[in-house]
Amino acid sequence: MASTSVLFVCLGNICRSPLAEGVFTHLAFQRGEAALYRVDSAGISGWHSGEGPDRRSVKVAAAHGIDISRQQSRQVKPQDFAAFDLILAMDRDNLAILKSKAPADLAARVHLFNALAVGQDMDVPDPYYGGPEGFEAVYSMLDSGCSALLAKLADARAS
Ligand code: 4NP
Repeated sequence: MASTSVLFVCLGNICRSPLAEGVFTHLAFQRGEAALYRVDSAGISGWHSGEGPDRRSVKVAAAHGIDISRQQSRQVKPQDFAAFDLILAMDRDNLAILKSKAPADLAARVHLFNALAVGQDMDVPDPYYGGPEGFEAVYSMLDSGCSALLAKLADARAS
């Protein structure tokens, strides 16, 4: 079956989008659907290019049985718009920048994560400057959002 490619995008690609990549991949595996998806993440900025995820994201993922420690931050590149079916922004700032960079014929691939996943125009809040509870809240939002998104994509395949 043809695979669907999904790119998760945040500002730094060290906190939210690596966690989104890990959670989505984990849930797809649990559903027996890992082979149906190609998943990656990237940052609007290249500030942390080449670095692993923030240790607080690694920790919250590990607490839920998910290993994201081997991911490496990279910046969004122009070719990503053609290379991914879905480009999912963690917040509305990321979304506006992605929309401004996307070629017109590929702009429909760019969505706000929560808008596509759960139908709510709601940011995944940036936890970088806060405490560990912010990372747990991000995890929780990503877990329910990715779960809803996987169900939605499965429905779309079935119809
Ligand atoms: P992220 O979080 O966009 O979820 O990866 C951030 C990471 C780094 C910075 C800001 C947000 N920073 O300012 O370096």
